[in-house]
Amino acid sequence: MSDELIELEEEEYTSQLTAPVLRRIMGLLKPHSIWVFGFFVTIALVSGLDAYFTYLNKQIIDQGIALQDRERVFEIAAIYGTFILFQAGAVFTFIYLAGVLGERIQYDLRKLLFNHLQDLSLSYYAQNAVGRLIARVTSDTGRVSDLLTWGIVDTTWALMNIISSTVFMAIINWRLALIVLTIIPVMVVIAIEFRKRILAEFRVSRRTNSKITGAFNENFQGVRVVKALGREDSNTREFQSLTTMMYRASYRAAWLSALFLPTVQVIAAIALGMLVGYGGLQIEAGLMTIGGIQAFVSYLTFMMWPVQDLARVYAEMQHSIASAERIFNLADTPPEVHDRPGAVPASTLLGEIEFDHVDFHYEDRKPVLTDFTLEVKPGEMIALVGPTGGGKSTIVNLLCRFYEPRQGQIRIHGRDYTDFTLESIHSKIGIVLQTPHLFSGTVRENIRYGRLEASNEEVEQAAKVAGAHDFIVTLEKGYEHNVGEGGNLLSVGQKQLISLARAVLARPELFIMDEATSSVDTLTESLIQRGMEALMKGRTSFVIAHRLSTIRRADRILVIENGKITEKGTHSELLKLKGHYYRLYTQQFRHELETRYGFADAVGLPETADQPQPLPAD
Ligand SMILES: Nc1ncnc2c1ncn2[C@@H]1O[C@H](COP(=O)(O)OP(=O)(O)OP(=O)(O)O)[C@@H](O)[C@H]1O
Ligand SMILES: [Mg+2]
Repeated sequence: MSDELIELEEEEYTSQLTAPVLRRIMGLLKPHSIWVFGFFVTIALVSGLDAYFTYLNKQIIDQGIALQDRERVFEIAAIYGTFILFQAGAVFTFIYLAGVLGERIQYDLRKLLFNHLQDLSLSYYAQNAVGRLIARVTSDTGRVSDLLTWGIVDTTWALMNIISSTVFMAIINWRLALIVLTIIPVMVVIAIEFRKRILAEFRVSRRTNSKITGAFNENFQGVRVVKALGREDSNTREFQSLTTMMYRASYRAAWLSALFLPTVQVIAAIALGMLVGYGGLQIEAGLMTIGGIQAFVSYLTFMMWPVQDLARVYAEMQHSIASAERIFNLADTPPEVHDRPGAVPASTLLGEIEFDHVDFHYEDRKPVLTDFTLEVKPGEMIALVGPTGGGKSTIVNLLCRFYEPRQGQIRIHGRDYTDFTLESIHSKIGIVLQTPHLFSGTVRENIRYGRLEASNEEVEQAAKVAGAHDFIVTLEKGYEHNVGEGGNLLSVGQKQLISLARAVLARPELFIMDEATSSVDTLTESLIQRGMEALMKGRTSFVIAHRLSTIRRADRILVIENGKITEKGTHSELLKLKGHYYRLYTQQFRHELETRYGFADAVGLPETADQPQPLPAD
């Protein structure tokens, strides 16, 4: 996905708070309402007590010290002590509750997204960069859970502080309380303005940051290519312009942040001046005590922070809401390939498989298969060969139902395969892909992925059948050897052998192998071939291979060019046809002979075999 698109996407989601979204966000709290209630109560307690302490201070000043009433002073001290303990308990409780609640919400959201992402079709992954999906799962869930915990904590606390302070101020002197209250809206507006601007800068910086992460990712994932092409310098320049951009945005954010506090302080000072001036007059008139003025000053500062907190939460909330919308949007994306209503489990895939006039294109609408028709008998081995980009992998993608035909049908045992559940189809297919994927973990765990309940003996048996056992035991820790992230610590051929063992263990009814022998040496290849043959007995299989030696024994070989079958037959039939297959085969054979023995003519291969020949009419 290009950067512009990512930005567009970000813009698209910075929407205002709307009632349905808010309702849905709040809905996330529903399963945890006890915890939410818990922190409302504790926060109310904390802030009420805070305001009360100030009131007690006033009493100490007015009564205890002014009247030299020692008993009253001790009494107040005792009240103080008790309430401080209460408050400490409450503070502990709500921080703890918010922490736990945050984790729970994140857990819920991650589970939701993870499960949904697993269900989404391959087409979704073809269109959405995996990195962005990961970011969505991690950072967006974090932001939403922050909003629902600390956001609510801060808001409640701030509101409670304002309310309780107001109540106590009104008790002391309601006219003065009104003056203080007029300051609040001014503060709120200024604080919100500042916060918005600061956050906007942070956003630029964050967006740049994600680009930088992307650059890191691309650069170092493809480090070999970068080095080989000597792209280091230009990549460095690109990287520098990004970091400069990020630096500037962060710099502006820092400047605004620095300006914010002094502004607030000046306004607070003005309010304080008014308070002391008017309060002084009230004292002269005997309507106010020194302790009262002191309490008002405390309440004023006590209200400054909540106001700023509210502004901060408000500004951040918009981004959390954007995160929430992205999460909901992802969770609402229906998988393109999904179970039809009333789908039933397929009892077996070992029936006749038919591609009936199948048309298929990927999202770009460029036709890949048109009117593709093929009938496969149970237990048959079908080999697909042909030029790159011809559509071989697409055919097996459709067969596995990673995608579904746009037109036409794929039938199993005479029944449209969309009548069956995806799970039942997938569980009966064993597949070894063009780019084998292993999960980080041990060799044994990777093989066992094929059938989780398999015993150690069965795992090793499968490895033997697949021809993987011999190399596995030469690994430092044998079956307990760690394969690294994505199997990176092994060679491609080794990964393929392990994938093959995994497929053997799964005991599939339909076996699919996409060019699994393309990147292994001849010895490994013959190992794989033996494994495959063992695996293919009694199952239907589709094998795609560029190395034709692998597929000589296939029941039928199909040459796929431009999404069409241009030749079909057994190995010897196709050789007789002297078409594309013949040319491919003789080329490979000649090449092999030349590299191994340094000659080719002796076996009587025609010189012209290398030259393109017109295809025989179909
Ligand atoms: N996810 C995708 N989105 C869009 N187009 C795709 C996608 N995958 C493949 N294609 C296109 O579909 C056509 C057939 O591709 P396919 O992968 O089936 O070829 P192939 O015969 O397996 O080639 P190869 O021998 O190189 O593996 C190609 O033109 C390719 O560009
Ligand atoms: Mg392919």
